[in-house]
Amino acid sequence: MKDIYTLGIESSCDETAASVVKNGREVLSNIISSQIDIHTLYGGVVPEIASRKHIERINQVVDKAISESGISEKELDAVGVTYGPGLVGPLLIGVSFAKAYSYALRLPLIPVNHIEGHICANYIEDKELEPPFMCLIVSGGHTHLIRVLDYGEYEILGRTMDDAAGEAFDKIARVIGLGYPGGPKIDKAAADGDPDAVIFPRAHGKDEYDFSFSGLKSAVLNYLNSCEMKGEKISVPDTAASFQKAVVDVLTGNAARALDKYGDKCFAIAGGVASNSSLRSEMEKICVERGVKFCRPSPILCTDNGAMIASAAYYRFLKGERADLSLNAIPDLKLA
Ligand code: KG4
Ligand code: ZN
Repeated sequence: MKDIYTLGIESSCDETAASVVKNGREVLSNIISSQIDIHTLYGGVVPEIASRKHIERINQVVDKAISESGISEKELDAVGVTYGPGLVGPLLIGVSFAKAYSYALRLPLIPVNHIEGHICANYIEDKELEPPFMCLIVSGGHTHLIRVLDYGEYEILGRTMDDAAGEAFDKIARVIGLGYPGGPKIDKAAADGDPDAVIFPRAHGKDEYDFSFSGLKSAVLNYLNSCEMKGEKISVPDTAASFQKAVVDVLTGNAARALDKYGDKCFAIAGGVASNSSLRSEMEKICVERGVKFCRPSPILCTDNGAMIASAAYYRFLKGERADLSLNAIPDLKLA
């Protein structure tokens, strides 16, 4: 069978990224231009600034992805682009670019759901992985526990009722003075802390596998306020470790119950928070105890990147899915 080369373009938040992937699994190039330094000044992503930076960088990022791939743009078979969910301005830059690029090269345009992209990072990491499997997607904007029934077919078991897991990490990092982006900073600080120093609540959502993190966020804020009123100095490592443990307990608790109920033989994690060291090790333990295969993408494939979009585009391409030039950004696009 002829090899299929897909270009993946990602611009849903604060990373301008592009990648060329062969047959959905082999990364030939993976260029990521992060805007973290700029948004750090504001303590979070400023959508208008993100849009402008995507415009400035997208041409160079795509050119570099092609030149580093070792193939020419004429050898591409399709252009995949994230069209949602995400920030509308940033999404529109990627979508507009991909439309013009695919039109100029007479290539099929494949619309890709960003959350599906995160799941597909696992196909790149583990070349043997095939559906069905269970997957926990935890990022700055999403927290979903799902079953991947087939390529592109999902059953949602649970989702967050309020904040996403990554959003909670980012907010708590800000209030304990660690800054943006919070996830990696809490992960690092927690390594020197006692996860049982403060017992924060473990809340669950309305349905069996749903999540909720807003109560935990308030509990951390109340703890910080009461320490301040009593004139007690907080330990940043202990607070970070205790908060992280509460998040990881809820995520892994739901995952373990779902595995016991559905009996899936493989479990994958995806999204930026999937690079969290404690989540990776706790989830691995749960899988080992149950004889379940555990898949986790390397950290660079967990956070936003173009390779995961190129992989998702490959499977949509095989199914014959194509977008035309009326493709628009859908900020609240659902997975299923
Ligand atoms: O998937 P991603 O790059 O973007 C979205 O689609 O949202 O995820 C970014 C999120 C941020 O909230 C960031 O703080 C979090 O992932 N994150 C982490 C870690 N690395 C990134 N959270 C916990 N521990 C980490 N090591
Ligand atoms: Zn993402």
